[in-house]
Amino acid sequence: MQDRLVSLLIFSIVLSGLIDIAYSEKTFDVLNYRAVGDGEADDSEAFVNAWKALCGADEVGDVPTLVVPKGKTFLLQPIEFEGPCRPKRVHIQFLGNVVAPKTVDAWKECPSSNAWLQFTNVANLTLDGSGTIDGQGSSWWSNSIANQYISFINALHFDRCNNLRLSGLTHVNSPKAHIGINHCINVDVSHLTIIAPAESPNTDGIDISNSISVNIHDSFIGTGDDCIALSSGSSNINITNIACGPGHGISVGSLGKNGAHETVENVYVRDCSFNGTQNGARIKTWQGGSGYAKNIVFEKITLVAAENPIIIDQFYCDAEAKLSCENQTSAVTVSDVRYIDFQGTSGSEEAIKLNCNQIPGCQNIVMEEIHITSAVPSKKIYASCSHAKGTCNDSTVPVPCLDK
Ligand SMILES: *[C@@H]1O[C@H](CO)[C@@H](O)[C@H](O)[C@H]1NC(C)=O
Ligand SMILES: *[C@@H]1O[C@H](CO)[C@@H](O)[C@H](O)[C@H]1NC(C)=O
Ligand SMILES: *[C@@H]1O[C@H](CO)[C@@H](O)[C@H](O)[C@H]1NC(C)=O
Ligand SMILES: *[C@@H]1O[C@H](CO)[C@@H](O)[C@H](O)[C@H]1NC(C)=O
Ligand SMILES: *[C@@H]1O[C@H](CO)[C@@H](O)[C@H](O)[C@H]1NC(C)=O
Repeated sequence: MQDRLVSLLIFSIVLSGLIDIAYSEKTFDVLNYRAVGDGEADDSEAFVNAWKALCGADEVGDVPTLVVPKGKTFLLQPIEFEGPCRPKRVHIQFLGNVVAPKTVDAWKECPSSNAWLQFTNVANLTLDGSGTIDGQGSSWWSNSIANQYISFINALHFDRCNNLRLSGLTHVNSPKAHIGINHCINVDVSHLTIIAPAESPNTDGIDISNSISVNIHDSFIGTGDDCIALSSGSSNINITNIACGPGHGISVGSLGKNGAHETVENVYVRDCSFNGTQNGARIKTWQGGSGYAKNIVFEKITLVAAENPIIIDQFYCDAEAKLSCENQTSAVTVSDVRYIDFQGTSGSEEAIKLNCNQIPGCQNIVMEEIHITSAVPSKKIYASCSHAKGTCNDSTVPVPCLDK
């Protein structure tokens, strides 16, 4: 009798296993890979195994999909999701939540260079859903000054992922940047909510580098550093309908640190707002670098008490890099930058700051319809200007170095 029961049991386990496999050709639910989802158990292995199954799957009709189910919270250690995958396209449906370990000490080593959740060499990846990615950054932030030896970790990072689609998710409290996109071609990022405290250090919303054809649109980004930063190698970038704030603005750069040759071009920022940010439309380059930032447009920008609504700083430096801050004879060239239709209020008296190097200076800076007033009605606002050439028409703030 017992034997029979045992064999029946074995039979039904085998059967359910077979059914699993039949289903899993299309859908790979992490729960079927022994994820627990209680926010306490380490679910990293289940995610890795579900990823391996997805990435190695045969493509049968529908796009194979890894499911992170709704209503559960999965604790994950650093993971690298590596391609190339067998299917032409892969999909991650992100309906539940994932959290990083609560404290720095509880983190295991990152298999990838420096990200918590890293995707490497995965083409045609769609990652969408209403889930939340929580980097539990607060213990990293409080360490940031005390311990300079801790390397900082992006929460979600994509490296060499062409045709990437990312949408719908909420990203909170990354140790460092919330989303990094490096060496990717043809990317669409939309409908994200990215949130970290205003005072959290280095918590950029989205960092782009070495990437071509990137669309970022319809998202809210309020963090402790740049809402979006475009680093070297970024070109053909559209940023549309982003509400930024708190944060340090939408930044091109910083470029040219430690004498590097760096370039950013063809950037179109449109229909964006800056609410209580430390900067609005910002371009920042270091002394001593080479390369260029060119063909950059900021258009239809709404300002709510944003400090430095328009700023070009060719003398950028940060506190950790005092040696690179000395004035040198070369700098990254800034040219063909257009600011069109800015409306709203400045939180700083210096509303426009064009702080350019003597050589080569900033060339062909164009401003039109700049309607900025002070956030404090009794205060006057002004523009400061050195070594910038170009034109300005229709501005509430006279810009002395630009032609009328
Ligand atoms: C990505 O998708 C495109 C278009 O569907 C296809 O041509 C290409 O082969 C895919 N890439 C990979 C690595 O499967
Ligand atoms: C950016 O917008 C321009 C103008 O709307 C369009 O021609 C271009 O294809 C867009 N670029 C990307 C990467 O979507
Ligand atoms: C600006 O941000 C403040 C504080 O977060 C918020 O109360 C306000 O509604 C925002 N204003 C606009 C116009 O979005
Ligand atoms: C470099 O030169 C700029 C412009 O002349 C000046 O504002 C800045 O203070 C100088 N910085 C240093 C470190 O000398
Ligand atoms: C401002 O510049 C635009 C575009 O170049 C031009 O069409 C317009 O006539 C100029 N307005 C003034 C007042 O000069």
